[in-house]
Amino acid sequence: MENNMNQTFRVEKQNIYNVDHTQTQLAPLEEGAVRLKIELFAFTSNNVTYAVTGFKLKYWNFFPTEEPYGIIPVWGYGEVVASNHSVIQVGERYYGYFPMSTFLDVQPTKINAYGFTDNQVHRRDLAPIYNHYMNVSADPAYNDQIANYLPIIKPLFATSFLIYHFLKKQDFINADQILLTGASSKTSLALAFMLKQHQAVDGKNIIGLTSAGNVDFVQATNYYDTVFTYEHFAQIKSQQSVIVDISGNYNRLQQLSDYLNDQLQHIVLVGLTDWKSSGKFSNIPKTKFFFAPTHLQQFYEAFGVGKATQMLNKALVKFIKDMSRYIKLELVTDRDTLCKLYVHMVDGKVDPQKGYIVKI
Ligand SMILES: NC(=O)c1ccc[n+]([C@@H]2O[C@H](COP(=O)([O-])OP(=O)(O)OC[C@H]3O[C@@H](n4cnc5c(N)ncnc54)[C@H](OP(=O)(O)O)[C@@H]3O)[C@@H](O)[C@H]2O)c1
Repeated sequence: MENNMNQTFRVEKQNIYNVDHTQTQLAPLEEGAVRLKIELFAFTSNNVTYAVTGFKLKYWNFFPTEEPYGIIPVWGYGEVVASNHSVIQVGERYYGYFPMSTFLDVQPTKINAYGFTDNQVHRRDLAPIYNHYMNVSADPAYNDQIANYLPIIKPLFATSFLIYHFLKKQDFINADQILLTGASSKTSLALAFMLKQHQAVDGKNIIGLTSAGNVDFVQATNYYDTVFTYEHFAQIKSQQSVIVDISGNYNRLQQLSDYLNDQLQHIVLVGLTDWKSSGKFSNIPKTKFFFAPTHLQQFYEAFGVGKATQMLNKALVKFIKDMSRYIKLELVTDRDTLCKLYVHMVDGKVDPQKGYIVKI
């Protein structure tokens, strides 16, 4: 590929099965701007959810492109290959939110030793966490052994870490057991890991619900006390419960809510991996949507950014070291394989024991 060409993987916003690859000439770099070459990025169901909720939660607004297409945001690393900025230097590497492209131009502001914020007009009203680029050399969580796991796990683990603290702060809303749907997802595994780590103090039963084909894998991690298939939910003990819903299947959640009835204290709505199911979640009692960027801001305010980051990083590194025994990295290096992976991910046909890193 020529150095001045930018390749992008796009999807039709109204029909996310329709994919499209573009190759466009890079525009001259603007005054004060920095050009990052995207080295690699992670791809999980979370990115499919960005597409599914692209209009509602404004994920299409991060990296605008011509209609009817949208660019799905991904987490990864980029290296500065050109700079019209006095502070940001060519050769520096940053972790952050990228388009599924080869290059991204940013306008750095709020620069400090840890990184900068992209100040482009179209990103200013979007959640700040998505606009921050972390200088890899200043990231205490970064080391070469876990470098490729970080873009896969960090955004998901951060969510689970925040859910854990959200529940803990409220004394688990009097629940004796915490039920996690989509138990094989990295987000659920991370929360189950957090709950397991603190189980001796918290004393909560950790229950996973998953598809029949994923039971063995989920059980093997030992993060859950008991694992059920979705069909066998009625074997769950009827006791004071909180549900953390990662899969977002409306009918199943409704059934579970009816089954637990008065014993159900709260439902934390987190994910939408099972995105083809539909229903108005607010019709199910005691549901509340959990948006990680909002909770991260609150966590920063409660503990201070330094302390909060330290707490998060410590737990994150511990989780990656442990889960890397069960989830193996898989590298995607060409566009056709990326396309197949994407469609499989949209259809929920991806093996949860794999963590995908894309390098094209
Ligand atoms: N609210 C927030 O702030 C926030 C933050 C981070 C993540 N999330 C959400 O958490 C969810 C999990 O993300 P992840 O990246 O951790 O997932 P992941 O590791 O890629 O999860 C894979 C698992 O999700 C389920 N699944 C995936 N696609 C499916 C489909 N099409 N139909 C049915 N089930 C499907 C299956 O689990 P089972 O067989 O176990 O059901 C599958 O094994 C996403 O919806 C993500 O957006 C939300």
